[in-house]
Amino acid sequence: MKINGTPYRSLWWNAEQDVLEIIDQRWLPHDFRVIPVQSMQDFADAIYEMRVRGAPLIGATAAYGMARAMAEDPSDANMDAAWTFLEKTRPTAINLRWALDRCRTALRPLAEADRAGAALTLAHEIADEDVEINRQIGLNGLALIKEIAAKKPAGEPVRLLTHCNAGWLATVDWGTATSPMYHAHDAGIPLHVWVDETRPRNQGALTSWELGSHGVDHTYITDNAGGHLMQHGMVDMVITGTDRTTRRGDVCNKIGTYLKALAAHDNGVPFYVALPSPTVDWSVSDGVAEIPIEERDAREVTHIQGVTDAGGIGLVQVTPDGTPGGNPAFDVTPNRLVTGLITERGVCDASEEGLAGLFPELARAAG
Ligand code: MRU
Repeated sequence: MKINGTPYRSLWWNAEQDVLEIIDQRWLPHDFRVIPVQSMQDFADAIYEMRVRGAPLIGATAAYGMARAMAEDPSDANMDAAWTFLEKTRPTAINLRWALDRCRTALRPLAEADRAGAALTLAHEIADEDVEINRQIGLNGLALIKEIAAKKPAGEPVRLLTHCNAGWLATVDWGTATSPMYHAHDAGIPLHVWVDETRPRNQGALTSWELGSHGVDHTYITDNAGGHLMQHGMVDMVITGTDRTTRRGDVCNKIGTYLKALAAHDNGVPFYVALPSPTVDWSVSDGVAEIPIEERDAREVTHIQGVTDAGGIGLVQVTPDGTPGGNPAFDVTPNRLVTGLITERGVCDASEEGLAGLFPELARAAG
């Protein structure tokens, strides 16, 4: 997507310098910084510290990390070490393991001399595929938005609500939940997006930045406002992303998603989840019982980052000294609360039948 008219992806390969470059998301929306990711430690830090974030982007970054490892030492032992080193950075988003598994499966049979080149080509492929998957999700979600728009008086906006940042910054491009929004906006459908702030890390500010840059009308709201807006008929549809979806359609996403789904259910508001197929974990059925939930540093809760009156980016403590903080980063929304899954192959029920119907080969391969 574009920043001040210039097209960007969230990561790209700098072929001249032979290095991966990323937008360092820790400073957004206040400061736009591009940094190189070079050493294996850089890759792990980029993912753990959320310089890159969002399930699909974590996966693509890990693929480039594997390419880096193969350039350093293409042995089987180093391949396995890189897999373990990168996989442990963040436990919930399945795209990380999906990308690492895909790399290892493709690279293992190759002669060591061929691995570095093949790994880099594969990382490029994974990044490009992500862009195309998200574009298709956008077209499939656009059809749903068009249906809502058709029932409204001409010119009245379709009012969407989203949680966290499932935008182009969370993927390589387009975003998942935001892709239908960008497509609808570009198709001339009037939209208004309620953007949840998404404490503790306020990924909603990233979503606001993205939507604002693209000219999409939106309002940044507190995490607790969504239920109220739904009760008053001010939300036509919720679209969120997902970090891991089970084979039967339970959705694990940013903390607070479950509460939005409950409020949507209680108020008859359609609750859709934008789901790229690499985000399905076919080995898991019961999301609440089986998906590991990342517990992050309590400082993310007790402190908040923003622009200070002096104009710099600063951290402010919001709790009394020494207050213990709890920081589960994700929650699980059971499939019964999900109206549908918007995938690159179409929209399906949040159920085993729905997912296996669209992705029979993946369901079969998982057994
Ligand atoms: O902790 P984050 O910022 O990586 O969490 C991101 C989310 O929860 C997104 O909604 C999810 O990864 C889907 S991204 C297209």
